Amino acid sequence: MNEFMAENLARQKSGGRFVEEWPTSVIPIASVAHPGAARALSQVSAAQAALPETAGAVGGSDPPGLDFALAVARGLSDIPRRLDSRYLYDSRGSQIFEDICKQPEYYLTRAEATILAAAAGDIADKTGNVTLVELGSGSSIKTQILLDAFVSAYGSVDYRPIDVSASILEQAENEISARLPAVNVEALNCTYDDAFPHLASLSPAMLLFLGSSAGNLDSGESDHFWENVSTNLQAGDYCLLGIDINEDPRSLHAAYNDAAGHSAAFTRNLFARMNRELGASIDTGGIDHVARYVSRWRRVEIFARFNQGQRIDIVLLGSSFGIGHGELILTEVGRKFRLRQMVPYLCTFGLSAERIYTDPGRRFAVLLLKKI
Ligand SMILES: C[S@@+](CC[C@H](N)C(=O)[O-])C[C@H]1O[C@@H](n2cnc3c(N)ncnc32)[C@H](O)[C@@H]1O
Repeated sequence: MNEFMAENLARQKSGGRFVEEWPTSVIPIASVAHPGAARALSQVSAAQAALPETAGAVGGSDPPGLDFALAVARGLSDIPRRLDSRYLYDSRGSQIFEDICKQPEYYLTRAEATILAAAAGDIADKTGNVTLVELGSGSSIKTQILLDAFVSAYGSVDYRPIDVSASILEQAENEISARLPAVNVEALNCTYDDAFPHLASLSPAMLLFLGSSAGNLDSGESDHFWENVSTNLQAGDYCLLGIDINEDPRSLHAAYNDAAGHSAAFTRNLFARMNRELGASIDTGGIDHVARYVSRWRRVEIFARFNQGQRIDIVLLGSSFGIGHGELILTEVGRKFRLRQMVPYLCTFGLSAERIYTDPGRRFAVLLLKKI
């Protein structure tokens, strides 16, 4: 049984709700049948049916916030409820994520930067002077280590950062243009899916997917993602993948529950964003951040726990969802990987591991993959 099947079976056993698994006690979860779900789902379908063909494309002519409204309505109609983690990254969310990366507990960013600093020259030698295309580039701070190495080796480099968060993308583009004039940077503000068709025209290329963003995809999303990478990269193109390989529950718990509270602010901001963009009228003070490492599935699960019953209104769709006292809504997963499983998995998509770099603590790995 794979992780996806096991997860669904466990959900069925828990009556379709996420349950808390605390070491000392079990916190009872209020009954949270979704009385509004069927009605809301039919509203989602009606709203989708009324959309033009291009609906969902970033930069299309849809009413502002429609993508987000539909995604929230779908996620709140799901059993158990889960929200698409990409909406964590609005302008405020991207800034909070930068704060998380600087926390002493959040080892991922430092470990990956250490690896890149040691390996960048070797990577540039191995790939040759290719275009660097980065999915989910965020602030591109670590990427600047690679850009420096490519400029040293080849005098200049083309860089195409791609991110769904427009503000962090613009900030990164401005910073790189000012600091590294030999980098020809052109940003693309869109989703991974919208970016894939552009990859072929950028070959020879190295696709960057850093920050363990691969861990935010569940197993079904992961298959879809790597299938797209495989289809759209050309033979001989490269992919540089940064993944978290840590399985130590204590350090994982600390990393996703930083003492300064940035992780909690990140979770709450998703609901504050609903207030700002969807008129949701949520009391975000009534939401707790819950992050736990589930060793059985080797993933961190991050939830918003409602410590009082509330309603989430989505004005644009005319829908409203009741959230029960104590209910957990999944906002993000952070999967952790074993190299002995990940390398053969990637191979099934025609991506062969040419180099594997790890940090001295062996908590993080960067894989240089080649499309065969
Ligand atoms: C975990 S952060 C990693 C940022 C950066 N790569 C790093 O290593 O620090 C994920 C980034 O991917 C972006 N992102 C998340 N889902 C996305 C999607 N479906 N399409 C495009 N960008 C996405 C977010 O806006 C965010 O900047």
